[in-house]
Amino acid sequence: MSYLSKDDPELKNLISDEANRLDSTLNLIAAENHSPFSILEIMGSVLNTKTIEGYPGKRFHAGCTNVDCIESLAIDRGKSLFGAEYINVQPHSGTSANLAVYFSVLNIGDRILAMSLPSGGHLSHGHLASITSKCFDFTHYKLDPKTELIDYEQIRNFAHSVKPKMIVAGASSYPRLIDYKKISKIAKEVSALFLTDMAHLAGLVAAKLIPSPVPYCDFVTFTCYKTMMGGRGGIILSKKKYGKKIDSAVFPGCQGTSAVNLLAAKALIFKLAAEEKFISVQKMTLKNAKAMAQAFMKKGYHIVSKGTDNHQVLIDLSSKNISGKAAENCLEKVGIILNRNVVPNDADNPGKISGIRIGTGAVSARGMGELQMRQIVDLMDTTLSNRGEKRILSEIKEEVLKLCQSFPIKKSI
Ligand SMILES: Cc1ncc(COP(=O)(O)O)c(C=O)c1O
Repeated sequence: MSYLSKDDPELKNLISDEANRLDSTLNLIAAENHSPFSILEIMGSVLNTKTIEGYPGKRFHAGCTNVDCIESLAIDRGKSLFGAEYINVQPHSGTSANLAVYFSVLNIGDRILAMSLPSGGHLSHGHLASITSKCFDFTHYKLDPKTELIDYEQIRNFAHSVKPKMIVAGASSYPRLIDYKKISKIAKEVSALFLTDMAHLAGLVAAKLIPSPVPYCDFVTFTCYKTMMGGRGGIILSKKKYGKKIDSAVFPGCQGTSAVNLLAAKALIFKLAAEEKFISVQKMTLKNAKAMAQAFMKKGYHIVSKGTDNHQVLIDLSSKNISGKAAENCLEKVGIILNRNVVPNDADNPGKISGIRIGTGAVSARGMGELQMRQIVDLMDTTLSNRGEKRILSEIKEEVLKLCQSFPIKKSI
């Protein structure tokens, strides 16, 4: 019997239910992944006990010998994996990482140029609901409405008229590659600093399958739990000259104590990410996204930007007479889990969400390939076209379950 069954059977049951839900549904949420169980083991380990403030060798509590080694391991492995001059491994999340970068080199009220939310940007890139917009003066660039791609000329024009102190690249939902070299050139033209938020792309970059922003940026942030397949938390990479400023912006600037269990999970995923098995999952993730985008286009769906270069497929459902939320709900009923998402078409209609976002990280981690992707697209299309048909939906649910049983969640990468 587990300790939890004894202390809190109700909670134990809820966690078992969640494990069953994950086992028996298809996870297409682009911001999630199945981590190896060694990561889960670390996150629930004795490392939870230690309180740390400061950095290895410069702590505010005694007893840090072991955790200093753990944080140093994460630092060394992370720097080497991403070829970065400097790394801070303490941010609790992607948002904390972005906040620390802003506060490390900017003053309250400084101007920042970033991608708008309907174009794919993130809340922490200056959305009205985020504290980032209350502290800094954001201008947002949008996608080209025809191609649904980044309009680099628009970024250049904004940069020259607004004169931002920082330009932010990176997105929550943008399925295409970003030309970091081009944006870094624009940043240099107006003497702006350049931050790329590669929260979604870190695993693909670590596997060296898509271009890395690191050589072109002053700062790069990411989260460890999306394509990166690690535990929770965020990371900041930077040029060496910003190291001290970044460290004090993270602690004590934006955070207090850091979570040692997460630092250790980061050290582990940075080790695994250099290994062939991790790289194969990332390769499959890319192939699977392309296969899904093609299969949807064949069926007449509007895929934003007409394809994908990463793990995401963004579908605009405006012409299908169903909202993003209705699609999300209906697919959840048959065991296909994804999220509604704003699409470029929604830009002029605040509150309207006409799309869904698919990510192929988690299904690829289960070992599924292109054949299964085409099967999933068939299942999704049949579900969306037969929303009121109980019998058809229950047949689809059965098929989803069979697929999940054929590809159980792996305990290691
Ligand atoms: C581009 C981007 N940046 C930052 C974040 C924020 O990460 P967190 O939720 O860990 O704060 C996300 C989360 O999905 C993201 O997509």
